[in-house]
Amino acid sequence: MKIAVIIPTYNERENIILLLDKLIGQKGFKNRDINYLVVDDNSPDGTQKAVKEYILTHPNVFLLTGKKEGLGKALLRGMKYTVENLKAQLLIQMDADLSHDPQVAPKLLEAIDAGADFAVGSRYIPGGSIPQNWGWHRKMYSRIGNMIVRFGLGYPKIHDWTGGFRAYKSIYYHKIHNELPQYNGYVFQIAFLHKSVAAGAKVKEVPFNFTDRKFGHSKIAPSEYIKNVLVYVIGNRIEALKKSTFSKFAVVGTIGFAINTVLLEIVVALGFHPAIGSIIGAECAIISNFIWNNSWTFSDRKLKKEIRIYKFIQFNLTSIGAVIIQTAAIWLGSIFSGTQLYRYYYVIGVVLGLIWNYFMYSRVIWKKIA
Ligand code: GDD
Ligand code: MN
Repeated sequence: MKIAVIIPTYNERENIILLLDKLIGQKGFKNRDINYLVVDDNSPDGTQKAVKEYILTHPNVFLLTGKKEGLGKALLRGMKYTVENLKAQLLIQMDADLSHDPQVAPKLLEAIDAGADFAVGSRYIPGGSIPQNWGWHRKMYSRIGNMIVRFGLGYPKIHDWTGGFRAYKSIYYHKIHNELPQYNGYVFQIAFLHKSVAAGAKVKEVPFNFTDRKFGHSKIAPSEYIKNVLVYVIGNRIEALKKSTFSKFAVVGTIGFAINTVLLEIVVALGFHPAIGSIIGAECAIISNFIWNNSWTFSDRKLKKEIRIYKFIQFNLTSIGAVIIQTAAIWLGSIFSGTQLYRYYYVIGVVLGLIWNYFMYSRVIWKKIA
């Protein structure tokens, strides 16, 4: 299998050759077909000169240059080049500053050999660590940042989302690269892992000890990074909510409630008895709920034409069930504590009615056919 190691650099003259030497010397890399790609954004410190000299004696090392557009863009360019020009089927990605232990790189490949699609170098599982000498606030930032992503995106089983030490099958580049160009900076790491997992990648975490760089300095801009991470996680939550069946059900129900209320008022204003208004309002709301739930909330389980009428009658009966639940809640409530608290029991009744409706809709009327 063809493998490529992608190493983004910006002002890493003192580090890059040390890293390449260590990687090429790895025992676990000996019998593998590996190319190395340095993606340098025209570093002013002479990184490119050092790499070009190194390439003269190392034909499996490549250099890709470009203008500085951020870490995410550099990684994406590196992936494109290794996949298209070097025909890599497996990619490793790591920092140039020796914070990512070269000895762990072969272990990432072993995780893939063992069946994973995406091996994540992890600082937050047993056997992994962040530097002891970091101040407490830096440790906190790193830990809390990772927790926010982990739980915010809803993947508690993956512990290290923000790091850039990974190996993955290049098929995930093919699957998701179109969704990635907007993540220019360090948030790219999160987006790439997240979208790969969403595309079905099986993840395995491999512990490693992150060490501080000895030469040069970090290029991360903390406040911008934190903002981008929050925007990514919150934006994602909102998108997920918009797509969730329950929130669609709630929107449809609210529209139904509005129809019910408006029609009741109109019919009463026309001089009819409120009971007539209530029947007309309720039935129109039921029709609206049925149509919208069928074409939107449960669009993945749309009812076939020939059963639609039968299901509509069932839907009406279900709705009567909700009315009975609501009435029973108020009635029982007034037996226990008198009629003056009827509004509280009304609210309880509405909530119970909603649960009933949601249960009946998703399990009976628009039942999933496995
Ligand atoms: N080509 C290119 N262009 N490379 C870049 C750029 C850029 O704009 N910005 C940074 N890099 C390279 C650096 O030269 C280094 O090899 C690697 O990307 C990581 O950059 P650092 O500046 O060393 O980042 P860090 O150590 O502060 O950040 C660490 O933590 C982040 C968040 O957990 C790294 O592990 C990151 O990969 C990680 O995302
Ligand atoms: Mn670093």
